[in-house]
Amino acid sequence: MLDQAILEFDKILKNLFHKPVSTRPHPDANINDGEFTESERKHIIGLMRINHCGEICAQGLYQGQAITARDKTNKDAFAHAAHEEIEHLAWTEERIHELGGKTSLLNPLFYAGSLAMGITAGLFGDKWNLGFLEETEKQVEGHLEEHLGKLPPHDNKSRAILEQMKEDEIKHAHMAHDFGAAQLPAPIKAMMGLTSKLMTKTVYHI
Ligand SMILES: [Fe+2]
Ligand SMILES: [Fe+2]
Repeated sequence: MLDQAILEFDKILKNLFHKPVSTRPHPDANINDGEFTESERKHIIGLMRINHCGEICAQGLYQGQAITARDKTNKDAFAHAAHEEIEHLAWTEERIHELGGKTSLLNPLFYAGSLAMGITAGLFGDKWNLGFLEETEKQVEGHLEEHLGKLPPHDNKSRAILEQMKEDEIKHAHMAHDFGAAQLPAPIKAMMGLTSKLMTKTVYHI
């Protein structure tokens, strides 16, 4: 029990403070950067900071869900998806730094909230846990789609990153669905939407 707690705590520290590494090449690796005005640059940093924080939240959710998930198959599936989210973290973090920006100061706060939500979802049983995961991935996919429309048209590097992330999130949603995700009640979906709206509004700035 204590060993498990130490392991989980170590994971939290890694997720928040270690430089994430991507096994796959970064999707924007072979793309030249565009020329941006100061306001375009700030806008891209704001958008990418939101996507980075979304991935921090994904880490918290996956970690929380893996702690309380009952079925071992689910645990492995979660661990695989969580690995891809680490790659997303690496891609967005590098893009933010490349543009001279910083990741959000609020990351630890949103991580803690997501971890608590993941643990709670896991306690309700696997089909609800998976339902929560499927809905999260769908909402993230929606955000990515929206951000693809908001990027300056000549920001091909950020676009390549978001497009690959979107493809991965769609895969994660399907995975949750295939493992037997339950359809969440509409008020829960709405509450999740509100929480992510709060995150995007604040993290764009700080
Ligand atoms: Fe992701
Ligand atoms: Fe995902």
